[in-house]
Amino acid sequence: MSRLMRRSSIVTDAASVTEIVHAAMSNTVNPRLKEILNALVKHAHAFLNEAKLTDEEFEQGLDFIRQVGLTCTDSHNEVVLLADVLGFSTLVKVLNNSAHDERTGGALLGPFYRGGSPRYELGESIVQDDTPGSPIFVSGRILDTRREPICNAKVDVWQASPAGLYENQDPHQPEMNLRGHFLTDEHGVFNFRSIRPSGYPVPTHGPVGDLLRIQKRHPYRPAHLHFVVVADGYSTLISQIFADDAEYLDSDVVFGVTRDLVGQFERHEVGTGPHPGVKEPYYTLDCTFVLAKGDSTFPTPPIK
Ligand code: BEZ
Ligand code: FE
Repeated sequence: MSRLMRRSSIVTDAASVTEIVHAAMSNTVNPRLKEILNALVKHAHAFLNEAKLTDEEFEQGLDFIRQVGLTCTDSHNEVVLLADVLGFSTLVKVLNNSAHDERTGGALLGPFYRGGSPRYELGESIVQDDTPGSPIFVSGRILDTRREPICNAKVDVWQASPAGLYENQDPHQPEMNLRGHFLTDEHGVFNFRSIRPSGYPVPTHGPVGDLLRIQKRHPYRPAHLHFVVVADGYSTLISQIFADDAEYLDSDVVFGVTRDLVGQFERHEVGTGPHPGVKEPYYTLDCTFVLAKGDSTFPTPPIK
């Protein structure tokens, strides 16, 4: 092929398409964005070369993506869900974790994070109604990589109910139930009371649900608590702690479980343990989060 032909956008064969698209994007001003888009086109074209889609299959794929977009509402994010069930979200987390192995590992944010959770004082409960469930007392520390406490860190927590539903999915729960944030004290300590979350199926009413059914996959996540920890001068940590006795611990539909994020949900009988006054069996969970120096950012809530 002549140099003249190469600089034009006239397609000669399959390989020329990739080259022409890269050339068309070559004036992208932001160098990082240019790098990302070049890699995306390179690998997406390689996928198309390998999979050799028929026209109908290509149309079906595009329509699937369209349906994913159409399924999104203010309270449901099907795009995040798709990234999660394909392992994209976890892969990004694992790659970023390995760049900072001295800090606590991150886990995917998931589609149920909401901004604006209520502020609670240390020790308070994030349960806003009388939902039945086993009490759980969560305590933890936020430390830097030298194991020094970080005080005034914001610890934002959210979880599903014992019925396996987040409050935004459940008309029976009050607004912002089982969501809240705390500021660590001078020892980097936070603690709060809640009820033990259950595992739950991810939403399956949309095209991602169809995908899971076609693939004969179950839709369940093991019981867990979500955390976002933000402190000035430290890289924000988005993480989850999974119950060590949870069903589906080794088959999470969104691949979110890593060994270091499995927490000990310790059961105590009435009259025993650190809260002997509690009138029913209860659980305790202790977790330490280590933050690395960096920029503190707030994740964009996928739902309102
Ligand atoms: C969650 O943990 O909230 C979640 C993560 C991925 C998909 C659905 C839910
Ligand atoms: Fe969750």
